[in-house]
Amino acid sequence: MATVMYRAGILTLSDKGACGEREDESGSLLAEMVSELAHVVRYQMIADDQEKIIMMLKSWVDDLQLDFILTTGGTGLSPRDVTPQATETVLDYQVPGMAEAMRAASLSKTPRAMLSRALVGVRQKTLIINLPGSPKAVRENFEVLLPVLPHALAKLNGDPADCAAKEDQ
Ligand code: MTE
Repeated sequence: MATVMYRAGILTLSDKGACGEREDESGSLLAEMVSELAHVVRYQMIADDQEKIIMMLKSWVDDLQLDFILTTGGTGLSPRDVTPQATETVLDYQVPGMAEAMRAASLSKTPRAMLSRALVGVRQKTLIINLPGSPKAVRENFEVLLPVLPHALAKLNGDPADCAAKEDQ
């Protein structure tokens, strides 16, 4: 169990899920994957609607000050995939290395990894991470970030400690 428990939100984007035609396996999987690091204080599944996604992300950051938000779904090329566009609108800055690392590692699993346009970035002090939609893709992408997440969150909260000294943590 981590010494600090962060406050997280999980936002699943799925037209089918939002109208009850699909179970949210990816959201549940993410909740399980972060269980030692964070309390999931907000969990929502909504349709792939750019304005709604923007509203939800802004509210979870500006009103609730969550430490991090994981989105799943809507990162591909279909006309309804708008998660990266919505995310880009709300970010103060991107953390390209985290998104690149997910795609690089994923390419060894499937060449289709290059089709995910997932972004990672920061709004205020909240880290927002896009993940693709399928449970398989969620696991393969998020497991790349998980080991680095505590350090990223500590830095975001102003931890002044020397990075080199923490390399093994
Ligand atoms: N990344 C990994 N690691 N494993 C996968 O199976 N699926 C890809 C890609 N990233 C995949 C992956 C596929 S098929 C698509 S279309 C894109 O993620 C976008 O997925 P999304 O539209 O569900 O967000």
